Amino acid sequence: MSALQHSLSAWAEGARRDLPWRRTRDPWAVLVSELMLQQTQVPRVLPRFEAFLRQFPTPAATASAPVAEVVRAWAGLGYNRRAVNLHRAAGAVVERHGGSMPVTLAELVALPGVGPYTARAVLAFAFEADVGVVEVNSARVLARAVAGHPLAPAEAQALADGLVPAGEGWAWNQAMLDLGATVCVKTAPRCGSCPLRSCCAWAGAGPDPAVGSAGAGGRQSTFAGSDRQGRGRLVDALRLGPVPLPVLAVAAGWPDDPERARRVADTLVDDGLAVLAGDVLSLP
Ligand code: ADE
Repeated sequence: MSALQHSLSAWAEGARRDLPWRRTRDPWAVLVSELMLQQTQVPRVLPRFEAFLRQFPTPAATASAPVAEVVRAWAGLGYNRRAVNLHRAAGAVVERHGGSMPVTLAELVALPGVGPYTARAVLAFAFEADVGVVEVNSARVLARAVAGHPLAPAEAQALADGLVPAGEGWAWNQAMLDLGATVCVKTAPRCGSCPLRSCCAWAGAGPDPAVGSAGAGGRQSTFAGSDRQGRGRLVDALRLGPVPLPVLAVAAGWPDDPERARRVADTLVDDGLAVLAGDVLSLP
């Protein structure tokens, strides 16, 4: 093991966050957690994860429920399209794999809404495979501590894969995520208390290598006043019941802009989050 691998592994023993999705190796539960965590912060996922799995414990249970039920259970998580994708993925697992989650990268990325990151996260966190998980937190650690310069996507993935100590895929990737989430944070990283400070390629000197590096993400666009905010309000209203078109603008929070509300409602229909029958919008 390199000094970096040794230092991070030793630190992680004592620093690992106890999170509910880390207590399971069920690939369906891991997929659910990873989709939730992709665009939603840990504290907002915590109260939703176990309740969601009680309602939708397997791909088969999810696929046989109406998509509207999955969208309802997604309340509070935002980016509701993920709920539709999860329902579609569950259907594909039932149709293509008899209800058992697939175990290869190629089959996982072929599921609706499952990209290379999510597929590798399932491989590492459910099947304990030795693959590198490049998500927003680990991508920052890779660029800063390991490379010292911004990485192209293939470079980041290759570096991540090559760093996993043999047989340690689960623990290593959780450690990378934990370091990025708690120490090697985006703004004002805590370099003084970092276990990698003596071997970090960046060490806080000069431009931040994570800026513009693959997977390290930009900021989410401003929510207040955005179309996304109106979409969220409409889906919240639809969870309670159908919305007649004459009250669409009020439900979207734009009482003076019915055209904008209608345009945004059309995007919900396009995304499979809503259906329009006559002049009433409802969950599918
Ligand atoms: N974000 C994505 N995956 C995660 C995990 N397994 N633990 C904590 N945060 C995460």
